[in-house]
Amino acid sequence: MIVCVCHRVSDRDIAREAHSGCRSFDQLQDELRVGTGCGACVECAQEVFESSHCSARRCDIRQARLPIEALAA
Ligand code: FES
Repeated sequence: MIVCVCHRVSDRDIAREAHSGCRSFDQLQDELRVGTGCGACVECAQEVFESSHCSARRCDIRQARLPIEALAA
């Protein structure tokens, strides 16, 4: 799916950057220029980036609960 029409950036492009170590949306914009044209895609691009970034770190429900479980131990 194309997320940024201005710079022809897809959700796969964003996921690839997230999985290869891109840690901030600013850095993503530096790499892909996503959201730096008309700006209409910024919110969607941020959502895709955060989702991809989370999956790159293998975030899931179990990990989200880890700190609570650690407190109970
Ligand atoms: S659609 Fe991404 S900057 Fe215009």
